[in-house]
Amino acid sequence: MNPNPPSASRRQVLRSGSVAALAAAASPFAARGHARSRETLRVGLIGCGGRGTGAAKNALSADPDVVLVALGDAFDDHLQNSLRTLQGDAEVGARVQVAPDHQFVGFDAYKKVIDACDVVLLATSPHFRPLHMAYAVEKGVHLFVEKPVATDATGTRSVLESSRKAAEKGLAVVSGLCYRYQFAKQETMRRLHDGAIGDVVALQCTYNTGGLWHRGRKPEWSEMEYQMRNWLYFAWLSGDHIAEQHIHSLDKVAWAMGDEPPVLCTSTGGRSARTEAKWGNVYDHFQTVYEWANGVRAFSSCRQIVGASSDVSDFTFGTKGVAELQSHRIRGEERWRWRGEGPDDMYQNEHDAFFKSIRKGEPINNGEYMCKSTMMAIMARMSAYSGKTVTWEQAWNSPEDLSPAAYAWGDAPEPRVAVPGVTPLVIAESGAGQ
Ligand SMILES: NC(=O)c1ccc[n+]([C@@H]2O[C@H](COP(=O)([O-])OP(=O)(O)OC[C@H]3O[C@@H](n4cnc5c(N)ncnc54)[C@H](O)[C@@H]3O)[C@@H](O)[C@H]2O)c1
Repeated sequence: MNPNPPSASRRQVLRSGSVAALAAAASPFAARGHARSRETLRVGLIGCGGRGTGAAKNALSADPDVVLVALGDAFDDHLQNSLRTLQGDAEVGARVQVAPDHQFVGFDAYKKVIDACDVVLLATSPHFRPLHMAYAVEKGVHLFVEKPVATDATGTRSVLESSRKAAEKGLAVVSGLCYRYQFAKQETMRRLHDGAIGDVVALQCTYNTGGLWHRGRKPEWSEMEYQMRNWLYFAWLSGDHIAEQHIHSLDKVAWAMGDEPPVLCTSTGGRSARTEAKWGNVYDHFQTVYEWANGVRAFSSCRQIVGASSDVSDFTFGTKGVAELQSHRIRGEERWRWRGEGPDDMYQNEHDAFFKSIRKGEPINNGEYMCKSTMMAIMARMSAYSGKTVTWEQAWNSPEDLSPAAYAWGDAPEPRVAVPGVTPLVIAESGAGQ
């Protein structure tokens, strides 16, 4: 049973995907980009929050012939804050040229931004990524796509479909899974893949942190406005923190495993500290075990609990040693640690690579792995919420669609907290539960 029926507008942009189709596209996308050697690239930003504003600065810093021409946000106050920050930036402020008639507000702002630019930065809450990406690809715009790319399987399949269309059109798709662009991690991972720790036997990843922001509630806000402004705490908008934050750890696991998806996972989670209604319906902890066809297991832990100890770390254990991915070290028969010099800002690196690839006419397309890593998070959430073991096929083909009935400033999906053993696992009829 799907507690939130899909909206008509969303269904229009969705296409079916399958594991077989995903596997068939394991080879890199064919690059057929346009050669835009030195013309000015007009950039638009959709989602003018903390990360979007940062991404706009990264884009402007990446290439001297980039101009920010349009901003879009659900809320004018967010848009104006972002505009002020960017205009006031000593390094890039002069190239922030967003006229009042290019400041778009509301649920349909995305279309107007995309219609006005060559390159779009998608940085809203994750729920909207599939819709925004489909329109951007239709309009032939290069994309920077923040993580996660969706909050349910239906959205993830849509993004994969859009990524493939983008490849056919020669459009760049660069993912906000930024660790993949950190030089120190790239070198650590290169060594791991070259056999520095022998064969991988197990992985452990942890993203235990305190709390994040809560923006309160004003009496004049509708329920939709309240949830949109506090999107982290509503699974339909954020995917829960396993997708919104821990995806970085899961993406490193996926990267270490050569982006081969796990065959199944079993996850346990719940709300032990964030129990009040203000925390919506997300959990505050998840513990997940992923299993691969070759017997390798990954042990994954994430927690957002104020006052508990923090730990963000990733280990890959092999027959000849251990790779400490977060601290860029290898211990075992080979001992190595990253001693690189010079700047290694992963947020800047990804935009440098993005614009370079557009200029060269060899567009990067990260569509494949950003969808798989998003699905690793979603499958664990499905498992924790339902209390069931979930296979990759079940997760990938799940008809679950968390979209609201309409995008309007009124009601919003009721934030029901999942109860393992009671909350149904939403899988296609042919997918047998375990
Ligand atoms: N790569 C990273 O390390 C990293 C870091 C932080 C955030 N993020 C990701 O970036 C995204 C944004 O996070 P943030 O921290 O900037 O959140 P934020 O709340 O500060 O910003 C999101 C903005 O999007 C706007 N928005 C929401 N729905 C919209 C819609 N339909 N149309 C237009 N605007 C809409 C919101 O009003 C808000 O201003 C999230 O997906 C998050 O996971 C990535």
